[in-house]
Amino acid sequence: MKRIVVLNPKGGSGKTTLAINLASYYASRQQKPVLMDLDPQGSSVRWVKKRQPAQPPIHVIAGFEHDARMTRSFQMRIPTDATHVIVDTPAALEPLRLPDITRGADKIIVPVLPSDIDIHACSRCIRDLLLVAKVRREEDRIGVIANRIRRNTLTYQSLIRFLQTLGIPIVTTIRDSQNYVRAAELGIGVHEMKSYVARDDVEQWGPLIEWLARGPGDAPDPAPVTPVVANA
Ligand SMILES: Nc1ncnc2c1ncn2[C@@H]1O[C@H](COP(=O)(O)OP(=O)(O)O)[C@@H](O)[C@H]1O
Ligand SMILES: [Mg+2]
Repeated sequence: MKRIVVLNPKGGSGKTTLAINLASYYASRQQKPVLMDLDPQGSSVRWVKKRQPAQPPIHVIAGFEHDARMTRSFQMRIPTDATHVIVDTPAALEPLRLPDITRGADKIIVPVLPSDIDIHACSRCIRDLLLVAKVRREEDRIGVIANRIRRNTLTYQSLIRFLQTLGIPIVTTIRDSQNYVRAAELGIGVHEMKSYVARDDVEQWGPLIEWLARGPGDAPDPAPVTPVVANA
């Protein structure tokens, strides 16, 4: 079982969007994903509740709730047949909570939007992951996703340079697309949309899925993935 944590203390960067679309991807590939929602806003939980019986099931855990009728460990239990646990995390997460939240994570995904403020917040988040949560970069556990890319832009140049000095990859670029908004409303992900509608979106998930499947001992790509910027 793989544990994947989607994290960035900056709100609106795409944590929930990535978490639910990953769950949708694995569910549509006959895997058994579990979505663990640690955000009190409960967006991931609400998304799962919108799913129709015909859609492959996704087990969801409302990790933010404290249900007095059951013990915490019972509430947080993961089904034994789970293949992936995807953890959606809240905004404004204190650095001191990072060690707890990232403990045992095989991969940590940090989505970042193409704005100065977001890039700055992302750099701080990466620094906290390395220094506070003590994630070692050689483990290839942290990956950045450039999210909501609209057009050719150099906005990411400073982030790319910063990440290169740290050896952290930008794993993929996700374009700004209404398909994410529409899919979320329906309780599905882009992977469950008609392929002629979402082909361009689905394609961008390839490098992320590949990176997530990689173990710590696997050889990295010969050339680092260059985050290219999509023309939308
Ligand atoms: N690639 C994208 N294209 C279009 N809209 C997006 C994309 N990623 C996120 N959004 C939208 O941006 C908003 C914030 O995203 P969300 O995933 O909820 O962020 P977070 O969980 O980090 O707060 C949502 O309305 C979501 O639908
Ligand atoms: Mg969210």
